Amino acid sequence: MKRGSNIGIDRLGVYVPDRALPLRDLAAARSVPPEKLLEGLGVHHMAVAPAYEDCVTLAANAGARALAMGGTAGRTDPGEIGLLIVATETAVDHAKPAAIFVHELLGLPPSCRTYEIKHACYGGTAALMVAAEWIASGVGRGRKALVIASDIAKYPPRSAGEPTQGAGAVAMVISGDPTVLALDLGLSGVHAANVHDFWRPLDRSQALVDGKYSLDCYLTALAGAFQEYRSRAIGTAFQLEAEAVTSDHLAAILYHTPFPRMAWKAHRVLAEEDWRSNPRRAAKLPADIEPEVRASYAEKVEPSLWAAQAVGNTYTASLYLCLAALLERQADRLAGRRIGMFSYGSGSCAEFYSGVVLSGAGALAGEIGLAAMLERRRSVSVAEYERHLGSGALGGEASPDLPPPDFRGAFFYRGTSDDRRAYSPV
Ligand code: CAA
Repeated sequence: MKRGSNIGIDRLGVYVPDRALPLRDLAAARSVPPEKLLEGLGVHHMAVAPAYEDCVTLAANAGARALAMGGTAGRTDPGEIGLLIVATETAVDHAKPAAIFVHELLGLPPSCRTYEIKHACYGGTAALMVAAEWIASGVGRGRKALVIASDIAKYPPRSAGEPTQGAGAVAMVISGDPTVLALDLGLSGVHAANVHDFWRPLDRSQALVDGKYSLDCYLTALAGAFQEYRSRAIGTAFQLEAEAVTSDHLAAILYHTPFPRMAWKAHRVLAEEDWRSNPRRAAKLPADIEPEVRASYAEKVEPSLWAAQAVGNTYTASLYLCLAALLERQADRLAGRRIGMFSYGSGSCAEFYSGVVLSGAGALAGEIGLAAMLERRRSVSVAEYERHLGSGALGGEASPDLPPPDFRGAFFYRGTSDDRRAYSPV
C-alpha cells in the first residue's frame, strides 16, 4: 500500500480513570429502561474521574505511558520533544494551559513549544495535524512532538446527555519516522460551520447541548468532510478511480464516538455518500444497501468500539481511544493497510483523513494495555458518582482525597491552595 508521508504516530499511550459507573445502575436510578442506554446508545459503563484526577493528570498519565513504550531501548527521551500540545475542552484555567503542568510532570525540556488547544472534540485532531505539519515544515529540526487529548465529559445530572459522559486521555508521539501510523498528509477533507449544537459557557463546568440537533450537525459535517476527502483522493497521488467506492479502500473506519451507536449512524451516512458518488451504484435505492452497510460496519467499524462502550465519551480523546482499541486487538491484521478516521468537534469543525498502519504497530500494541486497565477498574455506585459530579475540571476541590494504594497512575491532583493548582507524582 502506497504511503502518503513518512510522518505520523510513533507511540500511542492511553489512560482512563480507575472508577466506572455501570449504566444499568444509572438507568435504574433514573427510571429509564436499561436497554435504552445499553442498546440505544450502545454503552455499558462510563468512566468517572475521582477528585484526585483532572484533565491535567489524565493527560500526564497518558503521556507517561506513551513515552515509556518500547522498553528500555525504545522509550522516548523527553529531551527529544520540541512541541507539546494538550487538546482539551475541560481545561482547569482560563489562561494557564493544562499543557504547562503536563510539561513539568513529564520532565520535558525548556526548549519545547507548549500550549493548549481547543475546538470541542476536534481539538485532538487539530493538534495532531499541527504537529505533523510542524514536522513536515522542517522547523522542528528533527525533534518529535507530543500531542495529548484529554477530557472529562460532564452534562447536568438527569439531563439526556448524562449517560453519555466519560473520561480519559490519549497521548501520541508524532515523528518523522513513525512506528504505528503513517499519515496521508494533505489528503484530508474538512468541514467547518458555526452551529450551536454543544457548548460550555465560561462559568459552567457542565456542557449545554441541543442533543438531537447535535446529531444532525455531526452527520452533515461528516458528509461534507468525507466528500472533500473523496474528491482529493481521486486523481491525486493516491490515484483512486472516480468510480471507486472510497470506503472500500479503507480496511477500517474510525469515528468520533460520543456514544457507540453514533458510529453506526455515521457509517450509514458515509455509505450513502459513497453510494451516491458512484455512477455504477447510484441507481439503487438507499434501502437496498442496508445489508452491505451492516456487513461493512461489522468488519470495519465495530472492532474499534469496545473501549468506548466501557468508557463513554472522552471528547477530544474519543477518536484516538477507538484507534488504540483497534490496534490493541488488530494491529498485525491491519499492517500495511489504510484506515479512515473521522473527527467531529461541535460548534463545529470536522475532518476526515487517513493513514497506513505500519508493521511496527503490532509489536507496540501489547503495551497499550487498555483491556487490562479496564479490567482493573472499580465500579462506583450512583451515590458515589453523584458526589464526584462537582469535582475535577472547574469545580476543583481544595484538598481531594489522596489516591488509594492500588492507584495505577503516575500523577495525581493534590488540590488548590491560594488559587494555585498542585500536582504530584505518586
Ligand atoms: N430499548 C432500546 N432502544 C431504545 C429504548 C429501549 N427501551 N428506548 C430508546 N431507545 C433508543 C432510541 O430509539 C434511540 O436510538 P435511535 O437514535 O437509533 O433511534 C436511542 O435509544 C436514544 O434514545 P433517544 O434519542 O430517545 O435519547 P435521548 O432523547 O435521551 O437523547 C442523545 C439521546 C441526544 C444522544 C443524548 O444522550 C445527548 O444529548 N447526548 C449528548 C450529545 C451528543 O452526544 N451528541 C452527539 C453528536 S455531537 C458530538 O459528537 C460532539 C460530542 O462529543 C458531544
